[in-house]
Amino acid sequence: MTASLQCLALLLSFYSCQGLQFNYIEEETEFLNINSKYGSLWPLPQKVNFSDVSLKLSGVSFRIVDAKESSAGASCGLLQNAYRRYFDYIFGGAKKQWPVKGRRTGDSELQELQVWITAPESDCDSYPTVFSNESYELTVAQSVAVLKAPKVWGALHGLETFSQLVYKDEFGSRNINVTTVSDFPRFAHRGILLDTSRHFLPLKVILANLETMAMNKFNVFHWHIVDDPSFPYLSKTFPQLSQKGAYHPYTHVYTPADVKMIIEFARLRGIRVIPEFDTPGHTRSWGRGQPDLLTPCYSGSSPSGTFGPVNPIVNTTYDFMAQFFKEISSVFPDAYVHLGGDEVDFTCWKSNPDIQAFMKQQGFGGDFTKLESFYIQRLLDIVGQTNKGYMIWQEVFDNGVKLKPDTIIHVWKGNRQQYQNEMAQVTSAGYHTLLSTPWYLNYITYGQDWQSHYKADPQDFKGTDKQKELVIGGEACLWGEYVDGTNLTPRLWPRASAVAERLWSDKDVTNINDAYNRLSLHRCRMVERGIPAEPLFTSYCPHEYKGI
Ligand SMILES: *[C@@H]1O[C@H](CO)[C@@H](O)[C@H](O)[C@H]1NC(C)=O
Ligand SMILES: *[C@@H]1O[C@H](CO)[C@@H](O)[C@H](O)[C@H]1NC(C)=O
Ligand SMILES: *[C@@H]1O[C@H](CO)[C@@H](O)[C@H](O)[C@H]1NC(C)=O
Repeated sequence: MTASLQCLALLLSFYSCQGLQFNYIEEETEFLNINSKYGSLWPLPQKVNFSDVSLKLSGVSFRIVDAKESSAGASCGLLQNAYRRYFDYIFGGAKKQWPVKGRRTGDSELQELQVWITAPESDCDSYPTVFSNESYELTVAQSVAVLKAPKVWGALHGLETFSQLVYKDEFGSRNINVTTVSDFPRFAHRGILLDTSRHFLPLKVILANLETMAMNKFNVFHWHIVDDPSFPYLSKTFPQLSQKGAYHPYTHVYTPADVKMIIEFARLRGIRVIPEFDTPGHTRSWGRGQPDLLTPCYSGSSPSGTFGPVNPIVNTTYDFMAQFFKEISSVFPDAYVHLGGDEVDFTCWKSNPDIQAFMKQQGFGGDFTKLESFYIQRLLDIVGQTNKGYMIWQEVFDNGVKLKPDTIIHVWKGNRQQYQNEMAQVTSAGYHTLLSTPWYLNYITYGQDWQSHYKADPQDFKGTDKQKELVIGGEACLWGEYVDGTNLTPRLWPRASAVAERLWSDKDVTNINDAYNRLSLHRCRMVERGIPAEPLFTSYCPHEYKGI
């Protein structure tokens, strides 16, 4: 870090910047290092009742089984896969399981966890949706524990919670207390945005983050898959898009098999995959493989050789979009696709004489937002015909484009007051909305920035109860300018965990001290599970990260 950058960083952290000398600042917040009464639970369940009765768990005899009454039996691959995963997490994946030691007389042992899907349709072979029921009830009693959930989605969350209740005693053997948990999410849409265009993210990195999302009860992977710098999505209809537009046509692409694997890996963890194909701006990489898609920019009266946003005035654009989104709608099973629509730069459109003539003909005057709306309107009609719903960034709403009533408006701009106003406006117009503004995790500062992420609340704006209900959740965004496979995971975790609790737990769960203590333990648990989640502050973990 250069001296001036350091000075800037200090300024941004509201520290004084005298003499360009780095002053080590002690953390202003003194945390009490007492354990939370909720142990390491994260995100905090809606209702928990602990008792002082502790039970042993033995890796030799403990089993996770289907309850006899369950509507999802041994044929439910999703559950069987989850049982194995959580068994490994609980018993540390140890090669050899030693019999329980350090047994005090009178200690009873928990023999099994029975998983009981109560609804007639378990959803075992379905994809999760925004309407999926994610609730569960967990009862840990003497000798058996029962996990009841209407659908497999709640069972997945319940298994995670069960694994979080297990702790090691002073002899290193596993214990769990007699406990009841009754839980459901506050918001239905709890997402993470990863950007695979500014840097290519290897498959392994994406999968590791889906795994970590499940540990935090996130349920949407917003895949910002393409953008200006590169086009790594391998399209079967238009293979030249990635051949010409990816950083490398073979090593830096997501093949149809890769995409399928990501979607299935996510499904098995109750996570939806919503791809974003952002247009008409942010499309430079599209132009390399699809000539005539982008607007030629002019320098005076001749083309300058550079290109701007998607060309909205030629029919070929819409023919292309129709074919492209037909493919997308069949590749990605989710009911929603994100269509972007943010940050359209009008300079190139302004320079182009054909566009100028079209503006005149349409009576748009000099208002280029009207041209943008003209494009988006046609795009939305095209995507609407594929039977997908769409999400869009807030600019599309701000520019007054006519939207289907089920459109989700994604708020990302401004300061606190501005995003709160935007949330109020979007919901008073009757649209569902998602918040991301306070959760741009690509912005990093010195200190515990998770606290500001934790304090933001998507329903914190002026509006009626009916408006508040239109808020379906939020997404933490990790844009990729300075992020690739080397630093993505520690940058995202546990900072995104703060967002996870805000979106899952009750709105009154706001005690930052309690959160610090639980999150520290949750962070160490992620580390123990092999995830290089960065520390919150000075501390240690019983099992430190040992590299890969
Ligand atoms: C679990 O039980 C032990 C042993 O009785 C007790 O010391 C501990 O406080 C209990 N934990 C919780 C979270 O209630
Ligand atoms: C989920 O199912 C439970 C139990 O049947 C029910 O009480 C709850 O209202 C459902 N939640 C949603 C979001 O449908
Ligand atoms: C573009 O399509 C419209 C509507 O289908 C049609 O009226 C128009 O003639 C077409 N323009 C060109 C240049 O083909």
